Amino acid sequence: MNLKIEELNYLLTTKNEEVTDNLKKKARGIADDIFGKKIYTRGLIEFTNYCKNNCYYCGIRRENKGAIRYRLDRKEIINCCDNGYQLGFRTFVLQGGEDAYYTDDEVCAIVSSIKEKYPDCAVTLSIGEKKKASYLAFFNAGADRYLLRHETADKKHYERLHPDDMSFENRKRCLYDLKEIGYQTGCGFMVGSPYQTMESIYKDLRFIEDLQPEMVGIGPFIPHKDTEFKNYRAGSLEMTLRLLSIIRIMKPDVLLPATTALGTIHPMGREMGILAGANVVMPNLSPVNVRKKYALYDNKICTGEEVAECRGCLDGRIKSIGYNIVTDRGDYVPIKNKK
Ligand code: 5AD
Ligand code: FES
Repeated sequence: MNLKIEELNYLLTTKNEEVTDNLKKKARGIADDIFGKKIYTRGLIEFTNYCKNNCYYCGIRRENKGAIRYRLDRKEIINCCDNGYQLGFRTFVLQGGEDAYYTDDEVCAIVSSIKEKYPDCAVTLSIGEKKKASYLAFFNAGADRYLLRHETADKKHYERLHPDDMSFENRKRCLYDLKEIGYQTGCGFMVGSPYQTMESIYKDLRFIEDLQPEMVGIGPFIPHKDTEFKNYRAGSLEMTLRLLSIIRIMKPDVLLPATTALGTIHPMGREMGILAGANVVMPNLSPVNVRKKYALYDNKICTGEEVAECRGCLDGRIKSIGYNIVTDRGDYVPIKNKK
């Protein structure tokens, strides 16, 4: 990485608006050159909020007795896909807590039934740390992509965000396994999580360089009222935007979402994310009656009864800034293979 930690520190902390405007413009220019005005979309299906882990930041941690737990069965998941396909989604992201109720065989069955019904769609899994053999089985069942944020590439920091039944080594092992199997792989981290330092962010960027993921998911940390971190401040909008730009400049062809968390800390957060270099949005496709229950953090957007259909809402929002959501799988294509 060309960037030195002092330069990173300057880019993330400077109040010089000319510098930060240029950073965002440069990143958006790179994304425009590669993706034009296209924004890819993925339908997010949050299919279980049971989780065996107890991450200190997360609202669906196992010890949160306040969480009302739910699971969607195969049929309900397929219903979400039916609805999503009609709305123009060609990627479905199955996200959930680490929930052993869904055995490897069941995950494979869910993936293969989606692929059978919708062979023109990509399936992304985001179901946490598994054995390599499980990742391989899901891949062979048809899963195309896997999202597993590394959360922080700083071991000491990792240990302050997670109890000792989780390890940074295993997290990394999972990500390298996923890459090796051939998944389009996504890592990522929260911006402004408790105890994050400039050095940890620098390590996050170096980790991205080393792993060479196809996707990177970043969003601000937002406190959840039933967690250890309830009294910590949320990560900042501006820092998240600058990091999106830096990541776009580092990895021009990466798939980079403007996340729901970014849309939660500011009403125009996702639009600003796109203008800073993001090129993916992941609206919620989960049934409206479970959306409030998948609360990783407080005040999450798109959880009200009235927001049945995020796709239409985002279409309008993205158009208003001069971009278009496209009906496309939006696979990762290395820059050298682009037309
Ligand atoms: N604030 C912001 N993001 C969070 N996540 C979990 N809890 C929070 C929170 N309180 C993120 C984690 C996880 C992803 C699914 O959501 O980075 O990997
Ligand atoms: Fe969900 Fe706007 S994206 S309501």
